[in-house]
Order: sequence, then structure tokens, then C-alpha cells
Amino acid sequence: MSGHYDVDAVRKEFPAAERITYLDSGFQTPLARPVKAAIELFLREGLETAGPKQVWLDRVEQTRARVARLLGASADEIAFTKNTSESMNIAANALPLRAGDKVLMIHGDHPNNAYAFLNLQRKGVAVEFVPMTEIVDADSIRPYVDANTRAISMSQVTFHAGHRFDVESIGALCQEKNLYFVVDVMQAIGVVPIDAKAMRATFIGSGSHKGLLVPQGLGLLYWVKSRTELEPAYLAAASLADIPADLIARPDELALSTNARRFELGNFNLPAIHALGASLDMIEAIGVQNIQNHCFDLGDHLIAELDRLEIRLIGPRDRQHRAPHIYVIALPAAEWLGHFEQNGVRVSPERDGIRVSFGMFNTSADVDRLIDVIRRRGVTPSSRAA
Ligand SMILES: Cc1ncc(COP(=O)(O)O)c(C=O)c1O
Repeated sequence: MSGHYDVDAVRKEFPAAERITYLDSGFQTPLARPVKAAIELFLREGLETAGPKQVWLDRVEQTRARVARLLGASADEIAFTKNTSESMNIAANALPLRAGDKVLMIHGDHPNNAYAFLNLQRKGVAVEFVPMTEIVDADSIRPYVDANTRAISMSQVTFHAGHRFDVESIGALCQEKNLYFVVDVMQAIGVVPIDAKAMRATFIGSGSHKGLLVPQGLGLLYWVKSRTELEPAYLAAASLADIPADLIARPDELALSTNARRFELGNFNLPAIHALGASLDMIEAIGVQNIQNHCFDLGDHLIAELDRLEIRLIGPRDRQHRAPHIYVIALPAAEWLGHFEQNGVRVSPERDGIRVSFGMFNTSADVDRLIDVIRRRGVTPSSRAA
């Protein structure tokens, strides 16, 4: 049941969700039938026709335009990459940072973003970690901005305890202080509405195996195209404004494409881009706002049940600061994970407990089942995480 869309119909597209209580979309989402069908179509075309490459490339461009719509951007601001890590590394290495410059990040935020910037220490760039407080917004970041600060990079939603950082206010701070702003939306995309322009992001990076429902191996990069000073660290023919018709490289003709293709390298992950086309069909049909609201409702139900069991929620509680779909509950993972597994409930171990994460197909019955499995083992004071 949902007041937002027909969840039962959506759930039928995810056979894995019928077999186990799947509360682990923050790790990866199970495959949906239409996504599988799109990959199969691609394989069949390859098998039977040796590959209609132009048809496939046309679909790449259609999907690029739809990704752009999802992010409130234009198609020429979107590049396809391999995953979030690659997107963040492309971004980190495109920023004109020099020795003595400083980048601010959030302590404990996802390492795949952190290492992209920590690697710049080799150039003398400093990375300073700001504590992950329950609310991270312009006011909490401002005291760390000094004369050397050039960039801020963070997730919109943390993988850890579902913090939803106020990226709009931090984007406004970046504009005020003339800082580059790089945002990892991997945990947000497909569940939380994203507006690249409202965020005033310079770059946004993501993978696609969570809210975007695609198997691992496809990433996205948004680049605000007005920042033409940002150039790729790597170069391929696809990055150029004019690819020589005879495909003979010209040493003196290296002008970059004026669109985000300047950051793309070679051929695409075509099966995954086909999968993405199908998952965008599903997401667009439901609406990200509705997915968000549905997950918030599930989260409210979960929090109420946890309160009844006197189990603490790690991370923010109120809708304004929490992600709709990611909740870490204070049960020690080492003690509880096996119990969940034995009872057919899939969750993730986390630093401070057990992470429960929702996808578009979850229902309140999944939450009830989780709670029932917790009750069955019994929560004693010692089995609660500190
Ligand atoms: C915030 C965040 N960023 C990035 C990733 C993954 O990075 P990649 O797409 O490079 O595997 C995850 C989780 O897998 C994540 O939660």
C-alpha cells in the first residue's frame, strides 16, 4: 500500500524482493524485469545483427538527454563514466588546484570521493575534513572556509547513516566564496530529487547500481558547461571539438569539445546504458518525488517501530535532514547480521549498527517483517549497540 503510487505493481517487477525481504538498496538494487529485458534486447541485436552500432549510439544520446532531465541539466552537460569513483577523479583532476590550495570534505563520507581528492596531496593540495554533524549546511561549513579554500566536495546523501546534507545552501556558500562544488549523488539519485542548478554544483558524480537500478559499471558526470576552464586530465578522440575525419591525430588540433564529452573516454558501456534507459522509464513513470515520499513513509513507520522497541536510530530523525531511504539502527552488526540472514532479511553491516535501506519496491510489510525478526531474537540492553 502506498498513497503515492502502485507499489504492488512495481514490486512485481523485482522477483528478488518476493524471495527475500530486501532492505539493502543502499548497497545495490535487485534487477527489475524491464531492466533485464533491455539488456537482453541489446544482446539479441548483437547476436543476430553483429551490432547496429548507430542504433545503439542513438539510444546513448536519448538516455543522456533523460539523465540530464533527471538532474535538471542539459544533455551537453552529461558524460557517461564507469562509476562514481571515476567521476569524482575526473572532477578532482579537472579543477585547477595548486600547492597550498585547500579542499573541504566531510569526515566519514564515502571513501570513493575522499581518495580522489586525497590523491591531490601529491600536488601539495590540502584536504581538510569537517566533522559529520547531524546537520551539515552552509552555517556548519562556513567556519572552515579560509583564504586557501578552493573547493568543497561531499555526498548529497551519506551511505553511512542517511544524512542528507543541505547541498543547496552549501552551493550558495560556494558561489559566494567563489569555490568549486563537487557533489557525489550516488546514494541520492533515483530516490531524492536532484537539481544541479539549485545546488550550483560544478561537477556531480554518480554510479547507477542503487536508485538507478542498473548493474554495476556505469557512472554519470554532470559538468556545468559555463566552466570552460575545467579540462580533462585524460584525452581521447571523443574529447575533442573536431575529431579528424581520417582519424589521423593532429598534434596541433587539440581543442576540447564544448560539451561534457570532453570528459568521456572511448566506447560506452552499452549494455548498462540500455539498462539505464529501461530503469529511467520506470523512474519517470513513478516520479522521483513519489519514490521519495513513499520511502519517507516507510522510514516513519520504521522509526515508530524502533521507538517502541527502544532501539536507537543513528543519524538524523526528521525528514528535513534525513535521507528518505537509509536508516542505521543501533544493533551491533556482528551480533545481528547472521540472525537477519537466517531469517531471509537482507540488510548491510555499518560502522554503528545495521543499515536498512529502501527501494521503490519496498512496502510497510517489509518493515513489519524486519521488526518481527528483531522481536523474535529479543532486544536486551546488551544487544543494543552503544
Ligand atoms: C556515496 C557513495 N559514493 C560512491 C559509492 C560507490 O562508488 P563507485 O560507484 O565508484 O563504486 C557508494 C556506494 O557504493 C556510495 O554510497
